[in-house]
Amino acid sequence: MTDALNLGIRQSEFTPVDDTFVVPYQRNPLVKGRGDFLSLLKDKLNMELSGKFNHRVALHGLGGVGKTQCALEYVYANKAIYRRIYWISAVNQASMLSDYQKIAKLVRLAIPQEASPADIAEAVLAWLRGERSWLVVIDNLDDIKVAQGLLPENAPGKHTLITTRNPRTQGIPAEPLEVPLLTPNDSVDLLSMLSNVIAHDPDEEKQAYEIVEELGYLPLAIDLASAYVRDVTGNFSEYLQRYRINHKNSFFGSQMATVNTQTPLQLPGLCLLTPFKKTNML
Ligand SMILES: Nc1ncnc2c1ncn2[C@@H]1O[C@H](COP(=O)(O)OP(=O)(O)OP(=O)(O)O)[C@@H](O)[C@H]1O
Ligand SMILES: [Mg+2]
Repeated sequence: MTDALNLGIRQSEFTPVDDTFVVPYQRNPLVKGRGDFLSLLKDKLNMELSGKFNHRVALHGLGGVGKTQCALEYVYANKAIYRRIYWISAVNQASMLSDYQKIAKLVRLAIPQEASPADIAEAVLAWLRGERSWLVVIDNLDDIKVAQGLLPENAPGKHTLITTRNPRTQGIPAEPLEVPLLTPNDSVDLLSMLSNVIAHDPDEEKQAYEIVEELGYLPLAIDLASAYVRDVTGNFSEYLQRYRINHKNSFFGSQMATVNTQTPLQLPGLCLLTPFKKTNML
């Protein structure tokens, strides 16, 4: 602290960098449901069975079902049981290498100057092998080729949690665990909370349940619809009415039936989940 004061840094501004918890997102206070699912995930990460990818789990499911959200909630709910937690974005290889580089820097690994990004990642992975308690999240690993040679080795207390849109986690060396859709009740809670509209009578409540059913109980869709209710219609009945008109008239309507088997974000016209652009409708 003396050094900080000598440098003219006020005490309140002097926050040492935490090299044990590197997660780029804050906890979402509005998470609905998932209690039982997170317990199941915890059991699966701790399980030791022969012939399985022990201590490494891949969360899979529809785009927008909440894979990243579940991983994040697991991180915060279990922060106390791991000595170190690191979050790696696997959208492409460059982002993985860059995140490993950040860890190397934070934990001050001795890295030769001429080391390539791949060498640095390898050094971090070797260092993790020697550490005794950690969780590494590999987020958005849709293409396993991106992570070739970049997955940590797992053991009791050393867990890897992957999220992927890959429907059967094909080629991903991890135990698969599908993230389910929200329950109708959790969906309605989320819709009400995000839209700031509370159903005051049985009719309005019924409409809320109809909306979330139309949206396939998909958190991302509920998120988008809530914003529309909050900013445009101000109530559920008008939203539902507009949604149905729009739904009937759009090619997307015919595709919603397949929402449970496909990744909706890969379908053309996902934006129609927010059924009408404000500018078009007003
Ligand atoms: N249980 C939940 N409660 C409240 N909001 C949720 C929940 N699950 C997901 N969401 C919200 O839904 C949106 C999509 O979630 P998320 O990004 O986790 O989906 P994903 O499955 O990781 O999608 P992708 O396949 O695109 O990576 C986010 O805005 C997230 O905050
Ligand atoms: Mg995600």
